[in-house]
Amino acid sequence: MTVIEKLKWRYATKKFDSTKKIPSEILNELLESTELAPSSYGLQPFKILVIEDQAIREKLKSAAYGQTQITDASQLIVFARIKNFGIEQVEEYADNIADTRNIDPKVIEGFVDVMKGTVNSLSEEQLAVWNSKQCYLALGFLLFAAAQQKIDACPMEGFDAAKFDEILDLDAQNLSSVVIATIGYRSEDDDYQNLSKVRKSKEELFITI
Ligand SMILES: Cc1cc2nc3c(=O)[nH]c(=O)nc-3n(C[C@H](O)[C@H](O)[C@H](O)COP(=O)(O)O)c2cc1C
Repeated sequence: MTVIEKLKWRYATKKFDSTKKIPSEILNELLESTELAPSSYGLQPFKILVIEDQAIREKLKSAAYGQTQITDASQLIVFARIKNFGIEQVEEYADNIADTRNIDPKVIEGFVDVMKGTVNSLSEEQLAVWNSKQCYLALGFLLFAAAQQKIDACPMEGFDAAKFDEILDLDAQNLSSVVIATIGYRSEDDDYQNLSKVRKSKEELFITI
């Protein structure tokens, strides 16, 4: 299958086969795709929770309007932004760059100042939006990688983020849930897999200048 054929194969899965689990090597590859997603300045201002525990997922299902994907998929992935994102996180990132690339931190002082300037210039609300955008991009990478591996997925915003935060004790970890995805294998009787894709026409969608 070509990349496009695989993207046509994928759909937002409504019913998962709860008996099937993603093999660990494929799961690791999918998670690595989120790790490799680009982010603004490379800051990765989020954490990604991989939830397998069935009892926790039952609770989360109630906080997601009873959507069965939460409990029936192989894994539930929660993209959570880091709250109170600031100088400390920028400095941790700067240390990581210097260590990874084995360079003198002085070399990146200018870049680090630019990042600090950006972070300082944003209100708490703006930072929340900025960090959330990075979560969505990582979600996109996960969905794309899943389709390439013929793993089914459903991106989901239909959940109560405050309740998720409470159930997962995210506040104490300086985190807040942004968007989630369920991954696994479609159920044979999920009728959505037979529906034609509805998309804008190319003429309507693209503007070439
Ligand atoms: C950010 C986002 C949130 C979504 N939330 C839900 C959701 O809570 N439940 C659900 O069943 N589908 C959800 N969807 C799936 C969309 O309805 C679906 O992607 C869209 O209708 C296009 O269909 P396709 O993905 O099957 O091509 C969401 C999709 C995105 C991108």
